[in-house]
Amino acid sequence: MNDIIRLLQAHRSERSYKPDPIPDEILDEIIESAHRAPTSINTQTTSIVVIKDAERRKRISEITGGQPWVAKAPVFLTLVADLNKTRVGLEKRGATQQIQHSLEGVIASTVDVGIALGTLIVAARSFGLGIVPIGAIRRDPQAMIDLLELPEYTFPVVGIAMGYVEEPATQKPRLPIESFRHNECYQAENLRPAIDAYDLRLSEYWKQIGRSDGISWSENTADKYSLVYFPKVKPVAAKQGFTCED
Ligand SMILES: Cc1cc2nc3c(=O)[nH]c(=O)nc-3n(C[C@H](O)[C@H](O)[C@H](O)COP(=O)(O)O)c2cc1C
Repeated sequence: MNDIIRLLQAHRSERSYKPDPIPDEILDEIIESAHRAPTSINTQTTSIVVIKDAERRKRISEITGGQPWVAKAPVFLTLVADLNKTRVGLEKRGATQQIQHSLEGVIASTVDVGIALGTLIVAARSFGLGIVPIGAIRRDPQAMIDLLELPEYTFPVVGIAMGYVEEPATQKPRLPIESFRHNECYQAENLRPAIDAYDLRLSEYWKQIGRSDGISWSENTADKYSLVYFPKVKPVAAKQGFTCED
């Protein structure tokens, strides 16, 4: 096992941070690493807004439903699907951008955001920092748009809090590998036994770490996925120009 594999396989989301700032030269390297990530058709439609100001982090913590680690971690990055950047490029050619009206535009730009997020995670952790991705900025995307002054054709997809860890997290077990890796074709018959085994495993894990509020994977997933848990995403995305008509 090499150092990169060790780092990847030791992943955990951290939710306890010291107030110590991240030195600028380290933050610059982390962001430059994500800037080098591959992008669909080299369109480079990701933008990152860096937030260090404590009042603004507190506001984002409120937007996310009061997640304390968002206010406590010294740096919060917001990853934006940025089709405004490409719109300006098309304007230069006298062309009118249409891609924001398609599901393809949403998939391509959010996949690129995901690659940038993964790169930020690895880069930050390589400097001994802890991270936690924050999807809950989509609880109230308009509030994020207002706070960050995001223009039309942009959407705040996900955030990431980072900083030096106070109380290290434990590593959360995963669904069995059979539910993740499919050889040659999708193997649906493996799913139910994998989920049954993981429900037991995760419940056991919550007990081990003393979390009395911990629930099984299927219960947690049913709680979230039996409704549209961030209902403001679609109308706000449409208002920003992402209509998904085509
Ligand atoms: C896109 C994305 C959004 C997430 N949003 C949040 C969030 O809003 N708040 C939070 O505490 N954790 C969030 N997480 C962290 C997940 O809860 C975490 O990755 C998952 O429970 C597995 O735990 P682990 O990362 O410690 O292995 C998010 C993770 C991802 C990848």
